[in-house]
Amino acid sequence: MKKQSLSVLVTMVLGLVFLFALAYAAQQAPDTITMNSKVYPKHKKSLVTFTHKKHNVDYKIGCTECHHNYVGGKNVWKKGDEVKKCDACHSEAKKPKGVKLSKKEKIKKYHYSAIHENCKSCHRKLKKQGKPTGPTACKGCHPKKK
Ligand code: HEC
Ligand code: HEC
Ligand code: HEC
Ligand code: HEC
Repeated sequence: MKKQSLSVLVTMVLGLVFLFALAYAAQQAPDTITMNSKVYPKHKKSLVTFTHKKHNVDYKIGCTECHHNYVGGKNVWKKGDEVKKCDACHSEAKKPKGVKLSKKEKIKKYHYSAIHENCKSCHRKLKKQGKPTGPTACKGCHPKKK
């Protein structure tokens, strides 16, 4: 093999390694996420800091408690699948007053309902069971603005 074609090959291999590293990095969730959905034209409450890694590793909560992809009413999401932002599906901000929907329909449509159902319901459930858990009061997640 000529020296030149060898260096082309090396460059190509290095390029591939770099691309794979990028693809891998893109699937990783940050350790903490500042929740800041763009479905809200303006945030009325302070932004929520969510300890993603802690919830998974320290509090031992499985991915599918929070991530899903429903097909025929069944959650088929599994580790390694693409993770979409909650607002990709729960795509409207908050149910306006006067709109009548079942709880299920409300959660399906509105980000506000889906996110509070996910975060708050788990905390509330664990609290009832007397287990260590996260906040259920507004200011526990939305700290007072300074
Ligand atoms: C367990 C954590 C948690 C608790 C408790 C909680 N929230 Fe939230 N709330 C969130 C998260 C997460 C979002 C999504 C924010 C985003 O993505 O922009 C949110 C969004 C909101 C929004 C829409 C965004 C905005 O700032 O306008 C409002 C309003 C809101 N919460 C009000 C409340 C109120 C009122 C309470 C108490 C009754 C409360 N929340 C309790 C976590 C919580
Ligand atoms: C307690 C709930 C919860 C658990 C458990 C959880 N996640 Fe998440 N994850 C979230 C939330 C909320 C977000 C932010 C989504 C958003 O901004 O709309 C997120 C974001 C992500 C993102 C980034 C998506 C993006 O586009 O920014 C990835 C990747 C991810 N999670 C993967 C995982 C994997 C893999 C596991 C299990 C090892 C896991 N998550 C466990 C709630 C959770
Ligand atoms: C690919 C679209 C999609 C994404 C992304 C998505 N959801 Fe959902 N979610 C749905 C659908 C559809 C339902 C309704 C399922 C039903 O009623 O049978 C649902 C139901 C729910 C429910 C009620 C039932 C349950 O599974 O607990 C909650 C809470 C919820 N979503 C929160 C979230 C949160 C939080 C995120 C982001 C971490 C998220 N969803 C991301 C489509 C999605
Ligand atoms: C399936 C259960 C479950 C879900 C879903 C969940 N949490 Fe938690 N959360 C916990 C537990 C368990 C703890 C604390 C346990 C401990 O202290 O040992 C906790 C702690 C917290 C804390 C305080 C400690 C810390 O790590 O910051 C905050 C704030 C919090 N959660 C916010 C959220 C938000 C925001 C969401 C939704 C995006 C969410 N949680 C979803 C179970 C849950």
